[in-house]
Amino acid sequence: MGALKEDKARILPFELLLDQNTIARKVKELGKQITSDYTHEVPVLLGVLKGCVVFLTDLMRVIKLPLEIEFVSAASYRKGMRNSGDVVLGGASTIPLKGRHVLIVEGVVDTGRTVLTILKEIKKLEPASVKIVTLLDKPASHQSRLQLDYKGFSIGNDFVIGYGLDNTQRYRNLPFIGRVVDS
Ligand code: IMP
Ligand code: MG
Repeated sequence: MGALKEDKARILPFELLLDQNTIARKVKELGKQITSDYTHEVPVLLGVLKGCVVFLTDLMRVIKLPLEIEFVSAASYRKGMRNSGDVVLGGASTIPLKGRHVLIVEGVVDTGRTVLTILKEIKKLEPASVKIVTLLDKPASHQSRLQLDYKGFSIGNDFVIGYGLDNTQRYRNLPFIGRVVDS
């Protein structure tokens, strides 16, 4: 109980990076563009858990098309704010995506390893097309060439939390995006 209390009190120092209105406006814009690009199609939004959850649920409601949602889980053995090593996927191979127009939905692209690993796996399932939408991108962090079809915001190499994004599984419920600052 004592340990939990201490743990509860630990607040990560952050400052506001993107407020709720700014995010909502951008999500609407992305939805509009996706709606027009996929007219007459029934796309499958493939969310990358867990960081996608808030973005995906907002985005799907501003896409004015019939669509389906599916999820894959990705773990990159990230400890806290540092990224190291391989990406382990869960659930991708069993989703029926043959002949479908797949739109991978990611909260933030950092090195690009996660999204590239998923892209490779999904292509094996013979979809009609695969594109990527990410709310946030850290272009200076990319470790290989990477085409992001739809992008909300390009940000610096800061670590960010909120709107689905976590630090050690917390802060996903912040309705805005904050930039972690050194304390
Ligand atoms: P990548 O494989 O290096 O592109 O990392 C992508 C994954 O790392 C995302 O799906 C997030 O889970 C996590 N990630 C990267 N940057 C951040 C951040 O600033 N805040 C929270 N999670 C992040
Ligand atoms: Mg994480």
